[in-house]
Amino acid sequence: MKFFADTADIADIRLLHDSGLLDGVTTNPSLIKKAGRDFIEVVKEIATITNGPISAEVVALDHDGMMKEAEVLRKIADNIAIKVPLTLEGLKTCKALTDDGTMVNVTLCFSANQALLAAKAGATYISPFVGRHDDVGYPGMELIADIRLVYDNYDFPTQILVASVRSPVHVHDAAKIGADVMTAPPAIIWQMFKHPLTDNGIASFLKDWEATGQKIG
Ligand code: E4P
Repeated sequence: MKFFADTADIADIRLLHDSGLLDGVTTNPSLIKKAGRDFIEVVKEIATITNGPISAEVVALDHDGMMKEAEVLRKIADNIAIKVPLTLEGLKTCKALTDDGTMVNVTLCFSANQALLAAKAGATYISPFVGRHDDVGYPGMELIADIRLVYDNYDFPTQILVASVRSPVHVHDAAKIGADVMTAPPAIIWQMFKHPLTDNGIASFLKDWEATGQKIG
């Protein structure tokens, strides 16, 4: 399973990269607002850290506007994936960009039928939002299982990019279903390290080591 960082925070992206945990990055307008930085500048800086796909989202709602924005964004680096919303205009843009050799991440997916449409439009990634689905009382992970089934039935190459990840349980469940990618805020990835038995084990080994009075080196 590939790990993308759902953030525009450079320090976190660098740390994940240096730890071998980073396969790509996803951004969205809300994350850019949170970072408080210029969109183009921050995407450029992310591209100096990772060669993995970096999703940069268009904000126009019509095809021509999306294409114009995509033109600016894809010039930033070779590893930019243009993020478009799951609308008719978005999928028209998806097809045009895909035909032109650009990676496309179709975002804001909330049903298996929407995911089917995105795959038919040639999307590189489909982003179903599990957390937002859970928020409205529908088990988001069922959506991932449904999309996995539909894509496997027809061998669609579109990768399932589990988004709106809110806990390590989401990561675990998505991995069991066989999602291709998950994108999570770095805080969720740090939480995945946590286990009380690991902490207890380190503490007891250190205590016993001290009692030996030995040193390494
Ligand atoms: C995905 O690409 C989105 O950036 C993101 O996962 C949305 O997450 P949220 O629902 O926590 O805002």
